[in-house]
Amino acid sequence: MDNNFDVIVIGAGPGGYVAAIRSAQLGLKTACVESRKTLGGTCLNVGCIPSKSLLNASEMYHKAQKEFKNLGIVFTDIKLNLSSMMANKNKSILTLTKGVEFLFKKNKISHLKGKGSILDKNTVIVINDSKKKITYKAKNIIIATGSVPTSLPNIKIDEKIIVSSTGALTFDKPPKELVVIGGGYIGLELSSVWKRLGSNVTVIEYLDHIIPGMDKDISSEFLKILNKQGINFKLDSKVTGVNVIKNKAVVDFTNNKTAKRERIECNKVLVAVGRKPDIGEDITKLSIKLNNQKKIQVNEKFETSVNNIYAIGDVIDKGPMLAHKAEDEGIAVAEIIAGQAGHVNYNVIPAVIYTSPEVATVGKTEKDLKKENIKYKVGKFPFLANSRAKVNNETEGFVKVIADEKTDKVLGVALIGSLAGTMIAELALAMEFGASAEDIARTCHAHPTHSEAVKEAAMAVDKRPIHF
Ligand code: NAI
Repeated sequence: MDNNFDVIVIGAGPGGYVAAIRSAQLGLKTACVESRKTLGGTCLNVGCIPSKSLLNASEMYHKAQKEFKNLGIVFTDIKLNLSSMMANKNKSILTLTKGVEFLFKKNKISHLKGKGSILDKNTVIVINDSKKKITYKAKNIIIATGSVPTSLPNIKIDEKIIVSSTGALTFDKPPKELVVIGGGYIGLELSSVWKRLGSNVTVIEYLDHIIPGMDKDISSEFLKILNKQGINFKLDSKVTGVNVIKNKAVVDFTNNKTAKRERIECNKVLVAVGRKPDIGEDITKLSIKLNNQKKIQVNEKFETSVNNIYAIGDVIDKGPMLAHKAEDEGIAVAEIIAGQAGHVNYNVIPAVIYTSPEVATVGKTEKDLKKENIKYKVGKFPFLANSRAKVNNETEGFVKVIADEKTDKVLGVALIGSLAGTMIAELALAMEFGASAEDIARTCHAHPTHSEAVKEAAMAVDKRPIHF
């Protein structure tokens, strides 16, 4: 094989593999280095995809147990077969990672198997499984190495009793007592999975609310709903230690306000307090500039401080750590390298929490707007008044549209409710086109659909919802 490329991408997660495909589509001779056995990165192997598989399956199990009888569907014997559920999850991972492999072949991308590191601005070294070092040359290098879970001081993740999200996706039985440290995206999605499968779950969150940065109305409604589902919360609490004694863990924590100390004994502890960029020694050696959170600094063209070296995804100092943000950056960086005008609009990156109900947001929150001194108006519409949600017995939650007070331009939207994660796409599109709340209100929405709640919330901005 000729070892000279136009582009070498390091990392085959959603940022890296998409950058590789788009580069190849644009006629650039492309290679992608990946150290994991399968392509797709954290998202496909140990993140978004396996967690969504378990979220879907556990929700079915929960519904079969608790809700089907209300629809006149009666079972006498519902059992959990966790190993089949895990096998189904593993099948999804395999199909999707193989799918990326197929796309690499289709686009004639060289898949360099092994650990990649950058020697200089045009050289990448790959060390393969048999420890063989191979040198490749590239006109452009894209770093897309993603992120890894963080932990807390003095807490060592062993992936057996004290686990990260990776370990919490492979439990061989539902832990009787599960303590989750961190009430963010990962903490709440995986709490939902194991609660539905039979665990007693307690979430310990440092702040006095869940999901930092989230719209306050949504966050408090979400907390109420999760409480009702039986998940226990210890908010405003700092974990001071986790000790493993025999096959159990003892979690000590202190309330930030009252200084009251508490202790929970449990079978498993999930540490979900965030992720940090995966910065290799090569990046440090090359003196690629990092910000104070140790993320790679890039300009609007995704260029790092070193010529010819670009970076995208979780590893950079722009936008949230989300797979779809990385994908968009992958497309943009390839287009920029090919001389086109690639661009990512960081004001319109949707975020979804795939619990039941789902939570989805895009754009600014009220807090952001207050900080920026922008005057706004709000329209809200509850799913309780949406006919489709009502017939499906999915009446929890609401849609909230925030629009500029003067221009009526939509500045942010937050939803909590069934299908929120799918519905947010309409709002992202509307915002991308600079829509006003009136534009959404005057767009015909099919009846009966959950999406009518979006139209009604947009009408509520002007205080004229029909069904509420
Ligand atoms: P996160 O940043 O969403 O949440 C971490 C939580 O831990 C925060 O609520 C924080 O206040 C809390 N915390 C921090 N230190 C603590 C302490 N000492 N004691 C108690 N609580 C503490 O991080 P998470 O959930 O680990 O997710 C990591 C990344 O993965 C996020 O950037 C997220 O966007 C992404 N992700 C996205 C998903 C999605 O799009 N559905 C799903 C899973 C992850």
